[in-house]
Amino acid sequence: MEQAHALAAIAEGTTSPNPRVGCVIVNAAGEVVGAGFHRAPGSPHAEAAALAQAGERARGATAYVNLEPCAHHGRTPPCADHLIESGVRRVVASMVDPNPRVDGRGFQRLRDAGIEVEVGLLEEEARRLNEAFCLAHEKGRPLVTLKAGASLDGMLSAQAGVSQWITGPLARAFAHRLRMRHDAVLVGAGTVRADDPSLTVRLPGVEAHRLRAVIAPRLDLDPRAKLFQGESAAPVLLYTRESEVETGRERFEGLATVIGLPAAGDGLDLRRLLEDLLSRQVMSVLVEGGGATVARFLEAGLADRMALFQAPLLIGSDGGTPLVDGQAVSRPAAGWRMTDTRRIALGPDLLTLGRLVQGEE
Ligand SMILES: NC(=O)c1ccc[n+]([C@@H]2O[C@H](COP(=O)([O-])OP(=O)(O)OC[C@H]3O[C@@H](n4cnc5c(N)ncnc54)[C@H](OP(=O)(O)O)[C@@H]3O)[C@@H](O)[C@H]2O)c1
Repeated sequence: MEQAHALAAIAEGTTSPNPRVGCVIVNAAGEVVGAGFHRAPGSPHAEAAALAQAGERARGATAYVNLEPCAHHGRTPPCADHLIESGVRRVVASMVDPNPRVDGRGFQRLRDAGIEVEVGLLEEEARRLNEAFCLAHEKGRPLVTLKAGASLDGMLSAQAGVSQWITGPLARAFAHRLRMRHDAVLVGAGTVRADDPSLTVRLPGVEAHRLRAVIAPRLDLDPRAKLFQGESAAPVLLYTRESEVETGRERFEGLATVIGLPAAGDGLDLRRLLEDLLSRQVMSVLVEGGGATVARFLEAGLADRMALFQAPLLIGSDGGTPLVDGQAVSRPAAGWRMTDTRRIALGPDLLTLGRLVQGEE
């Protein structure tokens, strides 16, 4: 099963909206006779790749796979049927597929055909391998990762919004890798106005086009901004107030897709924004600031993970942008804590990755 997981993990940022899946076929003598993984939507599923390699040797063998085999016709035929036809005796899977089109049906099909099924081996690891996929199906919205490059005193920019550069080149290269691992990148209008970012993935040897989104309730962005220029195949989405949509569509025609959102409190409804992204097959979104946008996602309870790059630098708070530019919680225990943290030194900077859990008020 560890091998199946390792194979699944090779596909980094290429399978979405599909999950990452690896499969290893082991015969009665304990020899691996087939192994494969899913590379991208439309390409063979892991089970099909592994069974193709095993051929006749799959008869009487055990298939190890990190996710329940599918039972529905998508772009490829159901993997459960494929396994049944191959003559495997036993299927060991790490977890049930949370996709409502599967959700136990794959296992049922295998059991109905007389195949022994075991579920739960390395389940926690399997959920981590497909965190966004699981969350998207369970919560009906994409996984949200907040990302920021901050000073030691928690500032995103110096006076008058100058933020280039707080972190060093290694941290900035890693940030592009984070973009690649997510299906979409999102910022607030303030960041577009201050930084004029292009929000593309720029990594040597990697061609990845991610959807780019901006929350701009007043739609006061310059159509000549970098975001709207260049050859990137990645579309730009502008989320705005319903009242701005008509004029916005004229102003940004051919440059961006303008989408209206209902109000929620004194802002735009972020839950609806995320549902719209999911309808565009976005299973994960990297929210890259600024401070006001980070605060909005936290306050709405819609932030799942954080990637915080910290530079050994002090900026001072007056006139700059704080990492979370919103109302402070009543006491520290009510704040958002990063758990399951992993820390990576990137030259002089420190990256902390983890889940966000809100404390009790
Ligand atoms: N160091 C870093 O990693 C980093 C990253 C990003 C940005 N920055 C810096 O941060 C600064 C910008 O941050 P900021 O806090 O001023 O701006 P911001 O968060 O980029 O954008 C805030 C604006 O976005 C819109 N917005 C976001 N969420 C909304 C919601 N739920 N409802 C309604 N409107 C929403 C509003 O637009 P309107 O203003 O149109 O109402 C709001 O004023 C810049 O100086 C930039 O350089 C640093």
